[in-house]
Amino acid sequence: MSETTLLLHFEDERAQAQSLASEAGMPLTCVERHVFPDGEVKLRLPAPLPDQVVVLRSLDQPNSKLVELLLAARTARELGAKHLTLVTPYLAYMRQDIAFQPGEAVSQKIVGQFLAQLFDAVITVDPHLHRVRTLQEAVPCPQALALTAAPLLASHVYSRCPDALLIGPDEESEQWIRVAARQHRFDHGVCRKTRHGDKHVDIELPDVPVQGRAVVLLDDIASSGHTLAQAARLLLQAGASSVDVAITHALFSGDALQVVQGAGVRHIWSTDAVAHESNCVGLAPLLAQALSSLEQNS
Ligand code: R5P
Repeated sequence: MSETTLLLHFEDERAQAQSLASEAGMPLTCVERHVFPDGEVKLRLPAPLPDQVVVLRSLDQPNSKLVELLLAARTARELGAKHLTLVTPYLAYMRQDIAFQPGEAVSQKIVGQFLAQLFDAVITVDPHLHRVRTLQEAVPCPQALALTAAPLLASHVYSRCPDALLIGPDEESEQWIRVAARQHRFDHGVCRKTRHGDKHVDIELPDVPVQGRAVVLLDDIASSGHTLAQAARLLLQAGASSVDVAITHALFSGDALQVVQGAGVRHIWSTDAVAHESNCVGLAPLLAQALSSLEQNS
């Protein structure tokens, strides 16, 4: 990275920020944050800022964090930042990419445009792009880079369970299963999922023998945990000897961790895109490489 690039982060992502700063060779500073009794937030950034600033902010708990990004990005410009990059390992609001019912907000488009107005570049990992092909269509800023953690998760799975049968719990996971399976020649398959509600999904297992197999479910997001839980239950009923889970974004909202563990899942492995006790795969090298490639192309 350019010597003048500064990494700004928030206190709750200090560990990830330190890893990224060290991989990318950047100095880092924590944004001071004060929450008033009424819930409003005040931020304080270091002043003045260099020309190039990178903001690290994963967008789990997105509603308050999006307001904070608005305050941080606008303030950074006032303090001298000319090129602002957002590194958001988890990019929220990507799943609502159409109005499923008349009158529904298309959150992906609205949030994507909001971020594109604030930042010159956005880097994220395994964004949930279903009906759009590229991140730039969802986040129309000059540079929009979607990375994948599938190779890193695949290596972790291979180190823990080299004979794993890799299963994607729904059709959208096929893209990550394909990458991971090719890398380590895992046997693999992809389920079909029908969603009936936030916590109600039906899953159909693929036509792959699971009897006696150590299965690893690979997916992008665990939110309510019901997708993984339902897939795990079916796999164990079908004779799998164990079911482990490897995911990029460990959101695990509410009781999701108990839901997944209660379904019989043995190990849960996740990247540090979202801080969680299951984190065991660091994204810093991947993110640092992306920052350096953006710099070379700008
Ligand atoms: C959606 O299709 C994603 O790939 C995940 O499968 C989904 O977001 C998981 O949600 P939940 O944990 O609430 O079932």
